[in-house]
Amino acid sequence: MSYIYEGVILLISQKSVYNFNAGPSALPREVLEKAQKELVDFKNSGMSIMEMSHRSAAYEEVHNQAIQRLRSLFAIPENYEVLLLQGGASLQFAMIPMNFLTSGKKAGYIMSGAWSDKALKEGKTIGDVFEAASTKETNYNRVPSLADIQFDDKDAYVHITSNNTIFGTQFQEFPDTGDVPLIADMSSDILSRPIDVSKFGMIYAGAQKNLGPSGVTVAIIRKDLLENANVEIPAILKYSTHSSNNSLYNTPPSFGIYMLGEVLGWMEQQGGLEQIAKNNEAKATLIYDVIDESNGFYTGHAEKDSRSLMNITFRLADEQLEKQFLQEAKEAGFVGLNGHRSVGGCRASAYNAVPFAACQALQQFMLNFQAKNQ
Ligand SMILES: Cc1ncc(COP(=O)(O)O)c(C=O)c1O
Repeated sequence: MSYIYEGVILLISQKSVYNFNAGPSALPREVLEKAQKELVDFKNSGMSIMEMSHRSAAYEEVHNQAIQRLRSLFAIPENYEVLLLQGGASLQFAMIPMNFLTSGKKAGYIMSGAWSDKALKEGKTIGDVFEAASTKETNYNRVPSLADIQFDDKDAYVHITSNNTIFGTQFQEFPDTGDVPLIADMSSDILSRPIDVSKFGMIYAGAQKNLGPSGVTVAIIRKDLLENANVEIPAILKYSTHSSNNSLYNTPPSFGIYMLGEVLGWMEQQGGLEQIAKNNEAKATLIYDVIDESNGFYTGHAEKDSRSLMNITFRLADEQLEKQFLQEAKEAGFVGLNGHRSVGGCRASAYNAVPFAACQALQQFMLNFQAKNQ
């Protein structure tokens, strides 16, 4: 269908799907529609935000608003810098040890899945890193218990992955690492619930799950860590370069940052993180209840007390039945239910922007599929 909107022909796709992609993933419909409306003429400027100088007043307002909204929604204390970077969470796997793993120090990595593994491997190329705890022997079906985490009070930092996107586990509580900075990869659950930021030395996340499109990475860093960071690295890789330039050292991903600001505005309208956390709990419960009440037709990968509210991982009796489930789900309009290629099975990612109604539809689909096939 097409129609005339303020002199511009817009093509509106009628197709709507239930988007359970693991990332990039669902964005709020309202945000996409607002972006569409503003795409070619941003606030009467006669051009798109993508066409503007990143040094213009109009862009700077967008940039600062995104940072401000992050600060207020996440209750980020004054003694933290908020940086908007590029290169994804994967670049942070390298930048963190480059900046903070100073010579003579060690860094502990809490191993709870494939992403912590990648972070550790990257750390190894830079300095002395070790496994502070691991649940690899049980195929990462739970997060390590806090009591099992080992580190030394002289360590440079302890790294944790708050939510394990591939295995579907999530830390409900975080270790108290005292004076050793705790650095968290929150790529797949940032701003899904209130968190006490002051417990962390640094929090980082690629935007493409809860925050916006891919291409922007948020890094929240306690200021004293920046002051003591390694200086013998290229300027572009130093956090201090980005903090002293308000994340405008070089050309930022301006459209992504605009979208980030809009998604954060949407989160404010939802009632902030307390409300978003309640919504997420209610959505995930719909699916976990089906799994738990299925008499083994569906089996969850994660142990109950480690379950993620963001990524719900489950299996069916055999691969043939899983294939059939995924095929029928696809035909019914569900997108992204395949498990990660490294583990197989099924995964429903119910990030902030996935509507409650989509989870209700999936619940119903799973119940119907079970009734027909058990
Ligand atoms: C927990 C976690 N960390 C890191 C990454 C890697 O992120 P990126 O692709 O932005 O480098 C992902 C991607 O899915 C992730 O889920």
